Amino acid sequence: MATASAVREVFHFSSPFSAVLLLAELLLLAQAPAFNIASPFCHHHIPRAREVIYKVYLKESRVMKRNINEHLRIKTIYDRSVEELLPEKKHLIKNKLFPQAISYLEKTFQVRKPMATVLLSRQCVTNQYLRKKDDPHRYCREACAEHTKCGPVIVPEEHLQQCRVCNTNGRNCQTIGEADKEGIRDADFILYVSALTTERCGQENIIAYAAYCQLEADMDRPIAGYANLCPNMISTQPQEFIGMLSTVKHEIIHALGFSAGLFAFYHDDDGNPLTARYANGLPLFNESLGVYQWSDKVIRKAVRLWDVRDNNILPHNIFLLVTPKVVEEARKHFDCPNLEGMELENQGGIGTELNHWEKRLLENEAMTGSQTQNRVFSRITLALMEDTGWYKVNYSMAEKLEWGRGKGCDFVMKSCKYWINQQQRKKEPVAPYCDTLRSNPLQLTCRQDQRAVAVCNLQKFPQPLPQEYQYFDSLYGVLPKDLPHYGGSVEIADYCPFSQEFSWHLSGEFQRSSDCRILENQPETMVQRNMGQIPFASFKSQLSLWNSAERN
Ligand SMILES: *[C@@H]1O[C@H](CO)[C@@H](O)[C@H](O)[C@H]1NC(C)=O
Ligand SMILES: *[C@@H]1O[C@H](CO)[C@@H](O)[C@H](O)[C@H]1NC(C)=O
Repeated sequence: MATASAVREVFHFSSPFSAVLLLAELLLLAQAPAFNIASPFCHHHIPRAREVIYKVYLKESRVMKRNINEHLRIKTIYDRSVEELLPEKKHLIKNKLFPQAISYLEKTFQVRKPMATVLLSRQCVTNQYLRKKDDPHRYCREACAEHTKCGPVIVPEEHLQQCRVCNTNGRNCQTIGEADKEGIRDADFILYVSALTTERCGQENIIAYAAYCQLEADMDRPIAGYANLCPNMISTQPQEFIGMLSTVKHEIIHALGFSAGLFAFYHDDDGNPLTARYANGLPLFNESLGVYQWSDKVIRKAVRLWDVRDNNILPHNIFLLVTPKVVEEARKHFDCPNLEGMELENQGGIGTELNHWEKRLLENEAMTGSQTQNRVFSRITLALMEDTGWYKVNYSMAEKLEWGRGKGCDFVMKSCKYWINQQQRKKEPVAPYCDTLRSNPLQLTCRQDQRAVAVCNLQKFPQPLPQEYQYFDSLYGVLPKDLPHYGGSVEIADYCPFSQEFSWHLSGEFQRSSDCRILENQPETMVQRNMGQIPFASFKSQLSLWNSAERN
């Protein structure tokens, strides 16, 4: 696991002028090594602290009478790179993908404390800035950067505040250039959408990624962010649309609030920060994590007693999100009244872990770390957005999540081995888990909701799994010495085996998936041709991306 190393130093002004300066911060953030593992997960890159502008001052609105039914207002700005795409792709993005994703998010969320207009802050040429007493603006040391960027996108001049600078000694502070314009009206969040083939696109096989870039001063709510689509991964095939749509929604939710880089900035219902602040108004920066450190009102560690094979019980360390609405919704969902919080992903490295719900527990919830099947945005994700303190939420926009529903405390607090064995003893189905090996011909079953055919993803790994994830004491047709090699194919689901949709590939080309609701998946001739002899079948395991075909 790579950790972003960030060096943060405080710049002390030892001049008579220091009295003028309430806070003088010198941010010298060493270029952190880019984190990259090629893997089929959603790696939400938490933006480095130096790429984010915190405490952006926005003018309070003068008159603000808002209708109760008013929605979150996302202003989408398409970068030139989107305009330059092939016409079909451009049309897909601008007329279908983003309008539909944003419409869902706008209907689901509403900002608690809206601002009249948004005018973003400028980046500094040196990454060094200071703040003056009785002045809410940020002053750059020496000069403002030529361009202010939000992720890979250059922010248009008319979206930016005036440049404010002080000299090297923090004196002679002044504004430069034209006075502030009005800013962007009727918007709570500015989303810059680009389609640039960035380094990440090449490295990670992803469709899109997004993050926030500026947070306002009053509540620390993100007011701007970006979403970059990797042009080569955008598919105009209709059967891929649902997956891409949920990927785009998933990514924008990271930018709006669900990010380990934002946990320390969450507020309670009364508008007070859940994590203590320092004189500069910011929480403590954790150098080793590369993020602002959250308090235990947001995230808590816990240890579970974890049953594995050979009657061993190991300690299993987890992180729980413990804010009130999330706790309430998680308890209701699993029917576990003493559940302390909703477990966060513990695998997949920085970017996947902590930034998603635990895959083992909420498999097809859209805010888990990889796409497997039928993604839904559940009440638990909406509860998290409410618990940021920034949004009100319309729960009737939540989609129904069947996975884990009403399964009780043993399901959510014990290993899947414990659960599977307990169900077997009671002679009850082990669903949502499964325990049949993938074999040739494929043993097809129906997914729990009967909407797709699926296959148990229990498989043999070339290496033994870590002891913590060895769940089988016996398996039909498997030698005892080989049992440590067996587990579900999805690592971030703690290798628990479950029935999963898959896709058909013919000569390496994607043909169709096993979702019965998608019309393109049901060409009669293909069904007959392929059901009998499936040349290649692979599980869905990436945000609308198929694994490279594996032979069965
Ligand atoms: C919540 O969403 C539902 C379904 O879209 C809608 O009918 C209802 O009017 C919304 N409620 C509010 C308060 O916006
Ligand atoms: C920073 O993060 C590391 C790794 O999670 C943790 O061990 C350490 O206690 C944190 N530091 C503070 C000051 O909380």
